[in-house]
Amino acid sequence: EKVSQFLFLSKMRGSDDRPLSLNLSGLLRYTIEILYPRLLESKIEVETAINPDIPLFGVEEQIKQVILNIMINSIEELNENKIDHRKIEMRAKENHGRITIEISNNGRQISSHLVESIFQPFISTKKLGTGLGLSVCKQIIEKHEGVISVRSNPEQTTFVIELPVMVDKGVKEE
Ligand SMILES: Nc1ncnc2c1ncn2[C@@H]1O[C@H](COP(=O)(O)OP(=O)(O)OP(=O)(O)O)[C@@H](O)[C@H]1O
Ligand SMILES: [Mg+2]
Repeated sequence: EKVSQFLFLSKMRGSDDRPLSLNLSGLLRYTIEILYPRLLESKIEVETAINPDIPLFGVEEQIKQVILNIMINSIEELNENKIDHRKIEMRAKENHGRITIEISNNGRQISSHLVESIFQPFISTKKLGTGLGLSVCKQIIEKHEGVISVRSNPEQTTFVIELPVMVDKGVKEE
């Protein structure tokens, strides 16, 4: 995973980099499904509020990677945390041509200092972290003409992804 993130940073292309019409709710549910064993092991409850019909035009593997990175960070944070009710919330909605995806966890507050630099590469507080996860997320979301941000308070940390609703504009294949 680390190696692939590294390769992605230096070379943002591959066999699966064609943008297509995606089923966002299916994609979000898929990420929860493949993380299910880790969520279960860590006793994390996942609450979802996902609008089923959000049209997203994008690169499936890349959007998946973004959601996975944020989910894995959330699991890693909650594992550091001694609270008895660990929870991740995933919300997705569409409003006036904007898609908003929010992923929250009830772990520790991120310091304001870290909030400012969290999307920069090689920023990590983990012993074995490369600090590439969120910088890759930012690159991918910006490539999709979107914005990624974080807000954190003592109760909850939330990563927010905003994307334009896009239709297939007939992107030329190579
Ligand atoms: N949900 C979260 N709650 C608290 N801190 C977080 C959360 N997500 C990220 N962070 C902080 O942001 C830092 C950067 O995250 P990022 O995913 O970019 O790198 P990493 O997780 O440390 O390493 P890597 O993703 O390469 O394994 C983390 O080390 C952690 O300190
Ligand atoms: Mg990470």
